[in-house]
Formats: sequence, structure tokens, C-alpha cells
Amino acid sequence: MESIFGRHPFGNKDKEACVIKGDLIKPYIAPENDPFYSDINHLYLSTDRITVGIFSLPPGASYNPPDIHSGDEAYFILEGELTVQNPVSGQVECIKKGESMLVPAFAYHRGFNFGAGMMRTLFIIAPDVVPKNFTPEDFSGGKDAKYKSTPIFPFEQASDLPSFQPNATMQNLGGWPVDGEDARKGPLAFYKIPEDKKLAVIHGTDNPMLMKFLVSNDVFHICEIFLPSGGTRSRASEIDSHKGDSLVFVLESGMTVFLPDTRTTFEAFPGEAVFIPENVTYHILNHGASTLHALLIAAPEL
Ligand SMILES: [Fe+2]
Repeated sequence: MESIFGRHPFGNKDKEACVIKGDLIKPYIAPENDPFYSDINHLYLSTDRITVGIFSLPPGASYNPPDIHSGDEAYFILEGELTVQNPVSGQVECIKKGESMLVPAFAYHRGFNFGAGMMRTLFIIAPDVVPKNFTPEDFSGGKDAKYKSTPIFPFEQASDLPSFQPNATMQNLGGWPVDGEDARKGPLAFYKIPEDKKLAVIHGTDNPMLMKFLVSNDVFHICEIFLPSGGTRSRASEIDSHKGDSLVFVLESGMTVFLPDTRTTFEAFPGEAVFIPENVTYHILNHGASTLHALLIAAPEL
């Protein structure tokens, strides 16, 4: 899989707008060298800027060894609940359907499913997935930070950690839930983003669309978008484009993406996504009968 990271689904060709569905969604297990402790993943996109996929755990399952990336990772839970342990600090967070969490670069993390049903989560990593020239910590033989053990690197003070700003507005975009560089300085903590910590903004005046940002920092921006269905006409977002690679993943209802410069139309449904290259302008349209709910991801700039 390491050979595919950074070049999916385009290979060595130029990036172009497309729908990612069907055979373009690539299944893989991780780790590949130990299938007995693997989880199942589905890769949607992996460029030089961002990697997006879904990973799944059935009830009772976890993966081992703990994961670590050279980029920041964010989760958005699609189904069930995910418990994530930092085996170095001992921090454990549980996130449920509709919630999100930021894992700063080089923070170890191990996922468990202690819930009754399947767990499926989107994972978004930017810019790079695999650390280079890096020897991972050896957690074998029960050396992880757990009940009645001593953490390898304990958090010294809660006040050492960057914290959420109350009453955030669109001016906090770029530093949500915390400043990216501050989060990566350490101590490396997980930042859980439940419903009431999402940063909501309205896009557009005549055609308003609700955006709820989960994460917005120097490497990526991730927000839920809600576009109502129309009435007497189709409902379209106002135009937008991003200084980076963008992916719109459909959560509920059908989505149309229209690129006015080339008059290209794409259609995607739940579980499918549309890739939009840098600086390409687009409208998102809802031609359906229910509210479109999707996840918009842009990296590195919004
Ligand atoms: Fe990970």
C-alpha cells in the first residue's frame, strides 16, 4: 500500500475532477504484514496533499500495533463508536456517529470498537501518511499506557495543552479546534469535536448553505455541509474553489457538482465522493427531495 499512497486514483497522471466510486474505492488491510491484527480500509483519495478513506472495525475488534503518521489525522464517525487510545500518554477518547477527532502528527493512536455494532469512520490525513526514516516505539509485551501502568510520556498539566476558543466564528477558521502548529508541539493530545464544538458558518446570502467545521488548520479543512432541497427550483450553493485538493464525500441524499468553467456535471450518492482539483470553481446542487448532507475536505488551503 505504501506505493499507492500519494497517487490514488490518478497514478502518474495529472489530477482531474472525477467521481470516486465503485472500483476506484480501493480496499486494503492494515497492517499488511500481520493479517491477524489487521483492519479493513477503503481508500478514496491519496495525493501529495491529502489521503482520505474509510476504516472499519467490527464489535470487539482493535488493530495493533498502534498507528502513527507524519501528517495530522482527523476522524468523522459514519457508524457506531470508536475508542482511541494514545499508548504513550494513556489518553483515551470515545467518539460516536457524527462526531470527530483530531490526532496531531506523530501522536500514536490505537482504535478499538467497544460498541455493539459495526464501526465505520472516515479518516483524513494531511499531508503525508507514512513517517520516513522513523523507528516506531516498541509497545510489544504490554508496554502501552493503560490501567495501573505508568505512561511513557504523561501529560504534565492540562494547561500545557492548547484549548478550544469559546464563541468561535469564521475568524477562527485556520486554527480550529486549535492551532495546528501548537497541537503538534506536544504534549501530543487528541482533540475530540462533538456536535457542540463544531464551528458553524453560513456560505452564501441568496443561496445559503450551512457549513459546520470539524477541523480547519494549516494542513486541512474539513466541514459538514447541509444544502436543503429546493422547492420551485433546484437548490445550488454559491460558487467556491479551493487552493488545494478538494473532496466532497456524500453522507445523505444525492449530490450534483457542476463546474461552470467547463460545464461539467458530476453526480454522487451516499458513500461516493467527487474530487475537485485546485482552483477549479464549482457549485454543489441538490436536485433531490431531502437535505443534502456531505463532508467537504480541502487541503492545504480553503
Ligand atoms: Fe491513523
